[in-house]
Amino acid sequence: MANQIYYYETIDSTNEEIKRLEALGNSHGTIAVAREQSAGKGRRGRQWYSPKGDNLYFSLLLCPDFEKEKASVLTLLMALSVAEVLRQDGCENAMIKWPNDIVMNGKKVCGILTEMNLKADGGYSVIVGVGINLDNAEFTEDISTTATSILREYGRKPTSKELLQKIVKIFWQNYDAYCRCQSFENFKQHYESYLANKDAYVKVLEPQGEYTGIARGINQKGELIVETEDGDCVTVYAGEVSVRGIYGYV
Ligand code: BTN
Repeated sequence: MANQIYYYETIDSTNEEIKRLEALGNSHGTIAVAREQSAGKGRRGRQWYSPKGDNLYFSLLLCPDFEKEKASVLTLLMALSVAEVLRQDGCENAMIKWPNDIVMNGKKVCGILTEMNLKADGGYSVIVGVGINLDNAEFTEDISTTATSILREYGRKPTSKELLQKIVKIFWQNYDAYCRCQSFENFKQHYESYLANKDAYVKVLEPQGEYTGIARGINQKGELIVETEDGDCVTVYAGEVSVRGIYGYV
């Protein structure tokens, strides 16, 4: 898939830029990549610390042909693609913390923010925004104990340019495969083999309250299966929920 790629030295947020580019007529496969974000966005209204340096901040515009109900796994598909590329590059301890954080040695190196744009004609598009800490030496105080960089954990790092190329290539392969079967079933085993919180005690934080259990894996919709203390299995949908380890971030 040939992508139209827009490069920026500084931008507020590549996700916001993709929304503007789409409004200007750009289509499926458009990418915005920046060296720095002045208002980088994280999940649940958080900010994404995006200093200048050889980090990677990019967003990809997707206009899928399948129903929007099947689009929630695109974020897991990107996490799988990022983990796969890091592993191919030798980062063997790159793992996925459900649904879409990439962690190394229990700390986060990559976050993914997926946003859906519902259109007046009933159609939709999806923006998948990826932030990867390649060589941050310092983090803001609120994330200093949970965030890390590839350089810090691995001792060396790919360049942001080569990482972007490889992630996009693997993502399109995974995306095409998903378009054909429109189920996460075929990716489940691969995804679970990278799942840092598989068979681990987790705390599920929902708007209505929190509970603990053991994460057993994912179902074909990409939802997390959690075995609660009374032995029941519940499925957790990523939307409003946060999952933490009992003793730490993972
Ligand atoms: C998270 O909270 O884990 C998600 C972080 C996503 C950050 C990326 S950086 C590129 C893109 N642009 C943004 O403003 N956010 C995403």
